[in-house]
Amino acid sequence: MTPDQTDDAGALRHLLTLDRLPRAAIESLLDRAAHFAAGHDAREALAGVAVCTLFFEPSTRTRLSFQLAAQRLGADVLSFDASTSSTTKGETAHDTLKTIEAMGVRGFVVRDKRDGAVAELAAVANRGTALVNAGDGRSAHPTQGLLDMLTLRQAKGADFSRLKVVIVGDVLHSRVARSDLHALRALGAAEIRVCGPASLLPSDGTLDGCVVSHDLDAALDGVDAAMMLRLQRERMDDGLVASLDDYHRDFGLTAARLRRAAPDAVVLHPGPMNRGVEITDEVADGAQSLILRQVGNGVAVRMAVLEALLGRR
Ligand code: CP
Repeated sequence: MTPDQTDDAGALRHLLTLDRLPRAAIESLLDRAAHFAAGHDAREALAGVAVCTLFFEPSTRTRLSFQLAAQRLGADVLSFDASTSSTTKGETAHDTLKTIEAMGVRGFVVRDKRDGAVAELAAVANRGTALVNAGDGRSAHPTQGLLDMLTLRQAKGADFSRLKVVIVGDVLHSRVARSDLHALRALGAAEIRVCGPASLLPSDGTLDGCVVSHDLDAALDGVDAAMMLRLQRERMDDGLVASLDDYHRDFGLTAARLRRAAPDAVVLHPGPMNRGVEITDEVADGAQSLILRQVGNGVAVRMAVLEALLGRR
């Protein structure tokens, strides 16, 4: 059973997905995140609250930025390491959650390789416990979607009604792309283009309303933002991509290609990057890249989310 992520009054109980999250709720989180990104803090917001990062898949930026965000709100932070935990003795994720919850932990930031795994845990959590989806399978990565929107807002303004965005690459395996698509639609982006090899674009309705292309040069024409995706080789069956060289030739963002976009276009990538595959060093480290800004905004967005779920303002 998938639990509702809002309560009867419309307040967030969990953050599992941006799908059908109202525009006002997204904008409220982005406004608060912008406040934190400007250097404000709320050191007492989660005083006495314990938060656990429960990751069953690897992470660098999501896990660390959630830990930093929780610390900046005054929470006690527990970091669960699956490789040294009792899950190696066969304990289930369900029993792991209930065990840590019994210690008085109220906030869980959960990543799992299985679609829907975080929602399943939210369904068995106690009332008053809040879960944040830090990425499940290929389904959703809502705080990545929010931090991408905050980064776009800072660069292009809060009115997305004239914004042309292209999402490039391995959309099939990307929970980031799905959360970005939900957020861009909710915020009213003028045009959402999606470009990648046919083998890496989903055909299940995910791309409804998008302009789909397999020609990156054409897809970049005049865009305000290029959102590059990681080629997720660890989730891939053989044969989806002929070779990394071929992929780079057809779908890699180079400085020459980027000149097809608007002169002030910005480049995003959720990380970690496959340098020389989906993006060249020159673009990743160039003046139009906002990739490290995205990482910094991750702390601010995660502060806003944890405060909304667990704090008293
Ligand atoms: N973007 C992202 O989720 O990165 P990590 O896997 O390092 O957390």
